[in-house]
Amino acid sequence: MIGSLLVDDIGELVTNVAGTGDGSPLGLRRDAAVLIEDGRVAWVGPARYAPAADRRVDARGGAVLPGFVDSHAHLVFAGDRAAEFAARMAGEPYTGGGIRTTVGATRAASDGQLRATVRRLVGEALRQGTTTIETKSGYGLTVADEARSLRIAAEVTAETTFLGAHVVPAEYAGRPDDYVGLVCGPMLAAAAPYARWVDVFCERGAFDADHARAILTVGQAAGLGVRLHANQLGPGPGVQLGVELGAASVDHCTHLSDADVDALASTTIDRVSGPATTTVATLLPGAEFSTRSPYPDARRLLDAGVTVALATDCNPGSSYTSSMPFCVALAVREMRMTPAEAVWAATAGGARALRRDDVGVLRPGARADLIVLDAPSHLHLAYRPGVPLIRQVLHNGVPQCR
Ligand code: NIG
Ligand code: FE
Repeated sequence: MIGSLLVDDIGELVTNVAGTGDGSPLGLRRDAAVLIEDGRVAWVGPARYAPAADRRVDARGGAVLPGFVDSHAHLVFAGDRAAEFAARMAGEPYTGGGIRTTVGATRAASDGQLRATVRRLVGEALRQGTTTIETKSGYGLTVADEARSLRIAAEVTAETTFLGAHVVPAEYAGRPDDYVGLVCGPMLAAAAPYARWVDVFCERGAFDADHARAILTVGQAAGLGVRLHANQLGPGPGVQLGVELGAASVDHCTHLSDADVDALASTTIDRVSGPATTTVATLLPGAEFSTRSPYPDARRLLDAGVTVALATDCNPGSSYTSSMPFCVALAVREMRMTPAEAVWAATAGGARALRRDDVGVLRPGARADLIVLDAPSHLHLAYRPGVPLIRQVLHNGVPQCR
């Protein structure tokens, strides 16, 4: 039992409680303190009124933020594809064809090897301030390998996603209908006990709209929430399908038509029913960085009123980074987001994409997931790219070892 903990000497506190503090979406406060009890935020207010606590964390004038919410990652895999990356940097295009390479390595790996990789990446992410992480299956693509991927993922996070429809595996080449039948039947049945979400890579060369609709609908009927990979490599039906099905998030959103943007914006108009009906656009700039592709137009989405999240897409093929600060910096420099918009998208935005209201925000009752920066303001996350600014991480109110 750790008792109560007071975080004080905070240079700037990002609460994400809109309309409080400076009145901005970040709800910035100065001279604030945060009291933590039983793993939850118990109180936020001016430091001079702070209640007594058993222990103290001195932020030494650093900025304090909610822990990052990385709402899109693929952590259960074996091997790497560094040579594929090098070939891309020498001019080869990214097609997603390398997914099958990782499928082969993943099937051949032991449970212990997969578990070690997942834990290494979750630890790496935590040291960079990520306190909530989603992770998908999708490199097993057999009933047994998808179920074990999710079983191993569920050991480290509640945000697990069944992505049996990542690509059609080699043994089903030319028989996509048969593979979709497997995904909708025995594979979903074996995966669902370990999954919260269902996802499909809806893209030319992967799964078309009819296949995606079939898989997502049957997943929904099994009690899973919907999210999907959409419009990554080219224009397509994914975003509008996601909106039609009430997806929590459509991810990538690199190639959007005006109708796609309008469809996404329409999900945030109903402010009374709130985030539970919003389809978030989750942007994954690590993928564009690592595939040397044009970035999604975040400004266009934000100006249209779409809710935007940022995530890493951590995977061995298109984006082998676990760093949310890196994605924030990319979003600001390359996607015309302001530093405040990018920090919101990496915290509160990720929480919306996972339909969570207990993370990505610092208010009484929220999970006590906090980052202390070695910098006086959230601006420094983009202003000082590549610098390890995460001085301390508290997860469930517990200071993490560095
Ligand atoms: O989100 N787009 C599909 N899946 C991953 C890439 C997977 C891979 O290349 O291994 C993504 O970018
Ligand atoms: Fe992905």
